[in-house]
Amino acid sequence: MEHSEAGSHNMSSGNGPEQRPSEEELAAMSRDELVRLGAKLDGVEIVNYPDPWPVKGTRAEKRAQRVVALWFVLATLAGLAFLAALIWWPSEYRPPEDEQGHFWYSLYTPMLGITLGVAVLSLAVGGLLYTKRFIPDELAVQERNDNMGKGSDELDRKTIVAHLTDAGERSTFGRRSMIKRTLGLGAGVLGLGTVALPLAGFIKNPWKDPESPDSLAHTGWKPQYPGEIVYLRRNTGDPQEISLVRPEDLDAGAMETVWPFRESERDDPEALSAALKRSDTPVMLIRLRPEDADRVVKRKGQEDFNYGPYYAYSKICTHVGCPTSLYEQQTNRALCPCHQSQFDILQYAKPVFGPATRALPQLPITVHSDGYFIARHDFIEPIGPGYWERKS
Ligand code: FES
Repeated sequence: MEHSEAGSHNMSSGNGPEQRPSEEELAAMSRDELVRLGAKLDGVEIVNYPDPWPVKGTRAEKRAQRVVALWFVLATLAGLAFLAALIWWPSEYRPPEDEQGHFWYSLYTPMLGITLGVAVLSLAVGGLLYTKRFIPDELAVQERNDNMGKGSDELDRKTIVAHLTDAGERSTFGRRSMIKRTLGLGAGVLGLGTVALPLAGFIKNPWKDPESPDSLAHTGWKPQYPGEIVYLRRNTGDPQEISLVRPEDLDAGAMETVWPFRESERDDPEALSAALKRSDTPVMLIRLRPEDADRVVKRKGQEDFNYGPYYAYSKICTHVGCPTSLYEQQTNRALCPCHQSQFDILQYAKPVFGPATRALPQLPITVHSDGYFIARHDFIEPIGPGYWERKS
């Protein structure tokens, strides 16, 4: 609708009593009359309201309809391609040495971008074309009008409803089933994609290969073969700088975050970097003060998981997985900054405040003959938030 302000037009400023039809007259008015009356009461004169297709069912009209539908079909196809890429395209990192794997992996993000972009663009072009070809190009002139904040009465409500219904009717959208169907399909597929995108990362089969370190039941601390030694290392910022941890490195009351290191990965930059990035591996290594170490209540079955005053707990909050990074040595509590859950380190890190309901899993540790901390084995329960199959 084009509106132009024309203060010089001698039109009613609206709602004057002489303009108002009686209730009977109002009830007898057609929708078109109501639209014009409503516009007039608002100080708007509809100068021109042409039907873009005065002769119905012409070949040109049908062609225009097909073009719009074609864009919506394209949006549907691109949306489906987006979903397919999201689900089936190889998305796991492949090192450059694996030339073919790396090539397909490197196309994953561009594929998502291109298909989603084409889907959104096609939907937008279809919508624009529909507006251009099928919505009447109304020309109206409006006076400056200050209604002084008066509310709507029955007349205003009736005329505005008539105006809206009229706009919907004149758009002819209701009777163009080809356009409705293709638009519904395109928008539906796109909607599915936008919902599926954030959810896709969570889709994992927890029963698939339950002994793999990648399953939900295991972490990067799981030895890859019986007897493999997994050290505790710190992250210096350089994945290739191996800095192992000894008991004397921590003062009483100190906490350090540690990750797994295995000798087989010493000369493998990819593996070293990956070990530091795994979301299930960060562990808080805590050295209790002597007076606190005497007061520890250990969890049943985990009495030997600590090494003297050294305790290692998963850093992944059991509420929704934030890092429980804040260890307060005076209270011996680990605090999760996300929703303020607190875990009592003197009582096997059980939650004592906040929304978390499970204790932080404890990593069994000891000191190897070379003087460095090692993990005795993986966690004995899944780390992080609960899920249906989790038993602890
Ligand atoms: S994620 Fe830790 S309290 Fe919510």
